[in-house]
Amino acid sequence: MKIIAGNWKMNGVSSVNRQRLEDLKTLVELGEDKVIVFPPYTSLSEAQSILENTGIAWGAQNVYPEPEGAYTGEISVSMLLELGVSYCLVGHSERRYFFKEDGAFLQKKICALMEHGIIPVYCIGETLEQNEDGLVTGVLERQLREALVGHPEITKDNFIIAYEPVWAIGTGKTATPEMANTTMAMIREILAQLEYPTDINILYGGSAKPENAGALLSQENIDGLLIGGASLDPQSFNAMINWRES
Ligand code: PGA
Repeated sequence: MKIIAGNWKMNGVSSVNRQRLEDLKTLVELGEDKVIVFPPYTSLSEAQSILENTGIAWGAQNVYPEPEGAYTGEISVSMLLELGVSYCLVGHSERRYFFKEDGAFLQKKICALMEHGIIPVYCIGETLEQNEDGLVTGVLERQLREALVGHPEITKDNFIIAYEPVWAIGTGKTATPEMANTTMAMIREILAQLEYPTDINILYGGSAKPENAGALLSQENIDGLLIGGASLDPQSFNAMINWRES
Protein backbone atom coordinates (compact mmCIF):
# COMPACT_ATOMS: atom_id res chain seq x y z
CA MET A 1 0.00 0.00 0.00
CA LYS A 2 1.20 3.50 -0.86
CA ILE A 3 -0.12 6.81 0.48
CA ILE A 4 -1.05 9.55 -1.99
CA ALA A 5 -1.62 12.84 -0.19
CA GLY A 6 -2.56 16.25 -1.59
CA ASN A 7 -1.57 19.43 0.25
CA TRP A 8 -3.76 22.24 -1.10
CA LYS A 9 -1.93 24.90 0.96
CA MET A 10 -3.66 28.34 1.00
CA ASN A 11 -5.59 27.75 -2.21
CA GLY A 12 -9.26 27.88 -3.08
CA VAL A 13 -12.25 29.77 -1.75
CA SER A 14 -15.09 27.48 -0.64
CA SER A 15 -16.84 27.24 -4.01
CA VAL A 16 -13.59 26.30 -5.79
CA ASN A 17 -12.67 23.69 -3.21
CA ARG A 18 -16.19 22.29 -3.12
CA GLN A 19 -15.85 21.62 -6.85
CA ARG A 20 -12.42 20.04 -6.33
CA LEU A 21 -13.85 17.74 -3.66
CA GLU A 22 -16.85 16.83 -5.82
CA ASP A 23 -14.55 16.10 -8.75
CA LEU A 24 -12.39 13.84 -6.61
CA LYS A 25 -15.43 12.02 -5.32
CA THR A 26 -16.51 11.33 -8.90
CA LEU A 27 -13.09 10.60 -10.39
CA VAL A 28 -11.23 8.60 -7.78
CA GLU A 29 -11.63 4.87 -7.75
CA LEU A 30 -9.74 3.64 -4.77
CA GLY A 31 -7.50 0.67 -5.19
CA GLU A 32 -5.02 -0.64 -2.68
CA ASP A 33 -3.51 2.79 -1.91
CA LYS A 34 -4.56 5.31 0.73
CA VAL A 35 -5.65 8.77 -0.50
CA ILE A 36 -5.65 11.85 1.76
CA VAL A 37 -6.39 15.50 0.98
CA PHE A 38 -5.35 18.47 3.09
CA PRO A 39 -7.64 21.41 2.20
CA PRO A 40 -7.45 24.76 4.03
CA TYR A 41 -9.34 24.94 7.35
CA THR A 42 -12.24 26.76 5.67
CA SER A 43 -12.96 23.75 3.45
CA LEU A 44 -12.66 21.00 6.07
CA SER A 45 -16.36 20.97 6.85
CA GLU A 46 -17.11 20.52 3.15
CA ALA A 47 -14.47 17.80 2.92
CA GLN A 48 -16.26 16.04 5.75
CA SER A 49 -19.67 16.15 4.11
CA ILE A 50 -18.48 15.37 0.56
CA LEU A 51 -15.83 12.73 1.29
CA GLU A 52 -17.57 10.86 4.11
CA ASN A 53 -17.95 7.20 3.12
CA THR A 54 -15.85 7.60 -0.05
CA GLY A 55 -12.71 6.07 1.48
CA ILE A 56 -10.79 9.27 0.70
CA ALA A 57 -9.48 10.71 3.98
CA TRP A 58 -9.04 14.39 4.79
CA GLY A 59 -6.58 16.12 7.05
CA ALA A 60 -5.65 19.55 8.40
CA GLN A 61 -2.61 21.57 7.37
CA ASN A 62 -1.93 22.83 10.89
CA VAL A 63 -3.00 22.75 14.54
CA TYR A 64 -2.25 24.61 17.75
CA PRO A 65 -1.11 22.37 20.62
CA GLU A 66 -3.08 23.95 23.49
CA PRO A 67 -6.56 22.53 24.17
CA GLU A 68 -8.35 25.91 24.31
CA GLY A 69 -7.98 29.49 25.47
CA ALA A 70 -6.66 32.88 24.50
CA TYR A 71 -4.81 31.95 21.29
CA THR A 72 -6.41 34.27 18.77
CA GLY A 73 -6.57 32.83 15.30
CA GLU A 74 -5.60 29.29 16.25
CA ILE A 75 -7.39 25.94 15.88
CA SER A 76 -7.23 23.14 18.46
CA VAL A 77 -7.15 19.36 18.14
CA SER A 78 -10.75 19.00 19.38
CA MET A 79 -11.91 21.46 16.71
CA LEU A 80 -10.24 19.25 14.12
CA LEU A 81 -11.76 16.10 15.59
CA GLU A 82 -15.20 17.65 15.21
CA LEU A 83 -14.48 17.99 11.48
CA GLY A 84 -13.63 14.31 11.17
CA VAL A 85 -9.95 15.02 10.62
CA SER A 86 -7.70 11.97 10.95
CA TYR A 87 -4.34 13.38 9.73
CA CYS A 88 -2.51 16.68 10.29
CA LEU A 89 0.62 18.12 8.67
CA VAL A 90 3.31 19.20 11.12
CA GLY A 91 6.59 20.94 10.39
CA HIS A 92 6.03 21.76 6.73
CA SER A 93 9.00 23.81 5.53
CA GLU A 94 6.69 26.75 4.77
CA ARG A 95 5.67 26.82 8.44
CA ARG A 96 9.25 26.42 9.60
CA TYR A 97 10.37 29.25 7.31
CA PHE A 98 7.51 31.79 7.26
CA PHE A 99 6.20 31.22 10.77
CA LYS A 100 9.49 30.33 12.48
CA GLU A 101 8.12 27.12 13.97
CA ASP A 102 10.91 25.31 15.80
CA GLY A 103 11.44 21.72 16.91
CA ALA A 104 10.17 22.22 20.46
CA PHE A 105 6.90 23.72 19.20
CA LEU A 106 6.47 20.97 16.60
CA GLN A 107 7.05 18.36 19.29
CA LYS A 108 4.12 19.84 21.26
CA LYS A 109 1.87 19.67 18.22
CA ILE A 110 2.79 16.01 17.65
CA CYS A 111 2.07 15.30 21.29
CA ALA A 112 -1.36 16.97 21.22
CA LEU A 113 -2.36 15.23 17.99
CA MET A 114 -1.21 11.77 19.07
CA GLU A 115 -2.97 12.09 22.39
CA HIS A 116 -6.25 12.34 20.47
CA GLY A 117 -5.54 9.80 17.77
CA ILE A 118 -4.90 12.19 14.87
CA ILE A 119 -1.97 10.94 12.78
CA PRO A 120 0.79 13.55 12.38
CA VAL A 121 2.41 13.76 8.95
CA TYR A 122 5.74 15.15 10.08
CA CYS A 123 7.62 16.99 7.32
CA ILE A 124 11.40 17.14 7.26
CA GLY A 125 13.89 18.23 4.63
CA GLU A 126 17.05 20.17 3.96
CA THR A 127 17.48 23.50 2.17
CA LEU A 128 19.51 23.85 -1.02
CA GLU A 129 22.39 25.37 0.94
CA GLN A 130 22.40 22.53 3.47
CA ASN A 131 22.28 20.05 0.62
CA GLU A 132 25.23 21.66 -1.16
CA ASP A 133 27.20 21.80 2.09
CA GLY A 134 26.73 18.06 2.62
CA LEU A 135 24.64 18.56 5.75
CA VAL A 136 21.62 16.42 4.78
CA THR A 137 22.09 13.61 7.33
CA GLY A 138 22.71 16.00 10.22
CA VAL A 139 19.72 18.18 9.37
CA LEU A 140 17.31 15.26 9.04
CA GLU A 141 18.62 13.66 12.21
CA ARG A 142 18.12 16.89 14.16
CA GLN A 143 14.62 17.39 12.78
CA LEU A 144 13.65 13.83 13.71
CA ARG A 145 15.32 13.88 17.10
CA GLU A 146 13.80 17.17 18.27
CA ALA A 147 10.25 16.34 17.24
CA LEU A 148 10.19 12.70 18.30
CA VAL A 149 11.77 13.09 21.70
CA GLY A 150 9.33 11.85 24.34
CA HIS A 151 7.25 9.81 21.87
CA PRO A 152 8.39 6.24 22.40
CA GLU A 153 4.98 5.01 21.25
CA ILE A 154 5.49 5.99 17.60
CA THR A 155 4.57 3.21 15.14
CA LYS A 156 3.69 2.68 11.49
CA ASP A 157 -0.01 3.05 12.40
CA ASN A 158 0.09 6.35 14.25
CA PHE A 159 2.80 8.40 12.54
CA ILE A 160 3.88 9.33 9.01
CA ILE A 161 7.03 11.12 7.87
CA ALA A 162 7.23 13.25 4.72
CA TYR A 163 10.70 13.91 3.31
CA GLU A 164 10.48 17.13 1.34
CA PRO A 165 13.79 18.63 0.23
CA VAL A 166 13.07 22.38 0.50
CA TRP A 167 14.83 23.04 -2.82
CA ALA A 168 12.30 20.81 -4.59
CA ILE A 169 9.10 22.34 -3.20
CA GLY A 170 7.17 24.34 -5.78
CA THR A 171 10.32 24.79 -7.85
CA GLY A 172 9.79 22.18 -10.53
CA LYS A 173 13.05 20.53 -9.39
CA THR A 174 12.46 17.00 -8.17
CA ALA A 175 14.98 14.83 -6.42
CA THR A 176 15.60 11.94 -8.80
CA PRO A 177 13.74 8.81 -7.67
CA GLU A 178 17.10 7.19 -6.86
CA MET A 179 18.27 10.19 -4.81
CA ALA A 180 14.99 10.30 -2.91
CA ASN A 181 15.15 6.56 -2.30
CA THR A 182 18.69 6.80 -0.91
CA THR A 183 17.70 9.61 1.44
CA MET A 184 14.64 7.68 2.62
CA ALA A 185 16.89 4.70 3.38
CA MET A 186 19.09 7.03 5.40
CA ILE A 187 16.03 8.30 7.30
CA ARG A 188 15.27 4.68 8.24
CA GLU A 189 18.83 4.32 9.53
CA ILE A 190 18.37 7.44 11.66
CA LEU A 191 15.08 6.04 12.99
CA ALA A 192 16.89 2.84 13.94
CA GLN A 193 19.62 4.80 15.74
CA LEU A 194 16.96 6.72 17.67
CA GLU A 195 15.28 3.40 18.49
CA TYR A 196 12.10 4.06 16.54
CA PRO A 197 10.51 1.53 14.18
CA THR A 198 12.09 1.62 10.73
CA ASP A 199 8.92 0.63 8.90
CA ILE A 200 7.21 3.99 9.45
CA ASN A 201 5.69 5.24 6.18
CA ILE A 202 7.87 7.88 4.55
CA LEU A 203 6.37 10.04 1.78
CA TYR A 204 8.35 12.01 -0.76
CA GLY A 205 7.32 15.61 -1.46
CA GLY A 206 8.65 18.27 -3.82
CA SER A 207 7.39 18.86 -7.37
CA ALA A 208 5.82 15.42 -7.62
CA LYS A 209 3.59 15.29 -10.69
CA PRO A 210 1.85 12.74 -12.93
CA GLU A 211 5.00 12.41 -15.09
CA ASN A 212 7.26 11.32 -12.22
CA ALA A 213 4.81 9.72 -9.77
CA GLY A 214 5.28 6.18 -11.08
CA ALA A 215 9.08 6.33 -10.99
CA LEU A 216 9.08 7.76 -7.46
CA LEU A 217 6.50 5.34 -6.10
CA SER A 218 8.30 2.34 -7.61
CA GLN A 219 11.26 2.96 -5.30
CA GLU A 220 11.55 0.54 -2.43
CA ASN A 221 11.85 3.13 0.33
CA ILE A 222 9.21 5.57 -0.93
CA ASP A 223 5.89 4.76 0.72
CA GLY A 224 3.91 7.55 -0.88
CA LEU A 225 3.80 11.14 -2.08
CA LEU A 226 2.89 14.48 -0.53
CA ILE A 227 1.79 16.53 -3.51
CA GLY A 228 1.35 20.30 -3.52
CA GLY A 229 0.72 22.06 -6.84
CA ALA A 230 -0.28 18.98 -8.83
CA SER A 231 -2.93 18.02 -6.27
CA LEU A 232 -4.96 21.15 -7.01
CA ASP A 233 -6.07 19.77 -10.34
CA PRO A 234 -8.33 16.76 -9.66
CA GLN A 235 -7.39 15.22 -13.03
CA SER A 236 -3.66 15.24 -12.34
CA PHE A 237 -4.15 14.19 -8.72
CA ASN A 238 -6.28 11.30 -9.95
CA ALA A 239 -3.61 10.40 -12.52
CA MET A 240 -1.12 10.15 -9.66
CA ILE A 241 -3.54 8.04 -7.63
CA ASN A 242 -3.63 5.74 -10.68
CA TRP A 243 0.18 5.57 -10.91
CA ARG A 244 0.11 1.78 -11.10
CA GLU A 245 -1.58 2.01 -14.50
CA SER A 246 0.89 4.50 -16.01
P1 PGA B 1 4.89 20.86 -4.49
O1 PGA B 1 4.66 20.98 -2.90
O2 PGA B 1 4.39 19.51 -4.91
O3 PGA B 1 4.08 21.99 -5.08
O4 PGA B 1 6.34 21.02 -4.74
C1 PGA B 1 4.86 19.89 -2.04
C2 PGA B 1 4.60 20.30 -0.60
O5 PGA B 1 4.98 21.42 -0.24
O6 PGA B 1 4.01 19.54 0.20
